[in-house]
Amino acid sequence: MLSLSMKNANILLAITGGISAYKSAILARLLIKAGCDVRVMMTDGACEFITPLTLQALTGHEVHTDLLDETAERGMGHIELAKWADLLVIAPASANTIAKLAMGLADNLVSTVALATTAPILVAPAMNQAMYHHAIVQNNLDTLIKFGHHIIMPASGEQACGDMGVGRLPEPEDLCERILDFVSSKQSPPLLLADKKVVITAGATVEPIDPVRFLSNHSTGKMGFALARACVRAGADVTIIVGKSVQLPTPIGITRLNVGTADEMLTACQGAMTDDGDTIFIATAAVADYKVANVATQKIKKVDGQDSLTLELIKNPDILATISQNFPHAIMVGFAAETFDTENYAKGKLVAKNLDMIAVNDVSDQSIGFGSDDNAMTVFFAKQYEQDKVVLSKASKDNIAQQLVACVGQVLAHRATAQDER
Ligand code: C5P
Repeated sequence: MLSLSMKNANILLAITGGISAYKSAILARLLIKAGCDVRVMMTDGACEFITPLTLQALTGHEVHTDLLDETAERGMGHIELAKWADLLVIAPASANTIAKLAMGLADNLVSTVALATTAPILVAPAMNQAMYHHAIVQNNLDTLIKFGHHIIMPASGEQACGDMGVGRLPEPEDLCERILDFVSSKQSPPLLLADKKVVITAGATVEPIDPVRFLSNHSTGKMGFALARACVRAGADVTIIVGKSVQLPTPIGITRLNVGTADEMLTACQGAMTDDGDTIFIATAAVADYKVANVATQKIKKVDGQDSLTLELIKNPDILATISQNFPHAIMVGFAAETFDTENYAKGKLVAKNLDMIAVNDVSDQSIGFGSDDNAMTVFFAKQYEQDKVVLSKASKDNIAQQLVACVGQVLAHRATAQDER
């Protein structure tokens, strides 16, 4: 628990090696302006991008770079620094430093102080988008969260290397605001989904035609996995039920069930669900609306002289509508991908499937939706909730997922108040 005000907050700013290290100089200045006492430590990598002298001039204090420094040991060595800090902010946090923290290595000043301090730790990852998306980096971040570190999500956009994607260090003003919010909240942000159970469907279902062919779609499962991760980070117990074509690795702390058809997905969902207000069902899967009526047991052969082949399709179960009907006390979250008249279609589904909220995106915009790292959505709430809608403008799927979790938090809070009033 952090218990201090901005006026006397001792903020230890750790800068690691990355092009965005220059933003940390501005961050240090903004924090000092806000009344914090700021000391800085830097890795060797950080010193390649920005000089300790810059930070020394800005903070008015010696900048710490070495773990074993005789002069530092007499002044402020690593244990003193660790004890001095009310809050350790690692910004930018490189993939290398994140890996060290996740492993518990202590081979430089930053990684050693991170182990030695009892202060809360805010980690702001910043790196190339491919590095950020690498499963090892994501697993390391999940490990840090498990150990109580707090992550400031990177922003998306153009990167110094020319790539577009997620991994930019947020602007110093944004970082400063996040840090000050954290300090002034006087405690770790409450976990929105603590003691909640979340069941998520993700990816495409696969409907067989014969032993070698199937009907499916382009869903990659990225949004569902981003949500699963955000829900775990918010304290939930998460089960994700995934179409078997999804290639994504399973984030730490999540139970994964792989399924093929819509019927199999429905059976798995029924088994995973509980009918109470602490259970949340989130349907991100792109479920095939129709399946083949009579799946051939042998491969369908091409017939000479026959230029067309007719497959009879019959309707699949609507998983979300069925779960909503069978588990009326649980919270239902639907998704809708539309190409026109998005609001009307979304609101129609909200009512027809008896949902608490629905997130709709316009998939006619190619830069969001299927396969993309970004998304933009509008969330509509059922009429019993005070709010009608929330617009989530274009951001990384991780960021959108975090905001969707906040929307689920609003539904939970509203339900809790309604219950108290009864
Ligand atoms: O009716 P529509 O398919 O547009 O509804 C989309 C929402 O319903 C999504 O949340 C999707 O995961 C879910 N759905 C489902 N089972 C189906 C079709 C859609 O769970 N058969």
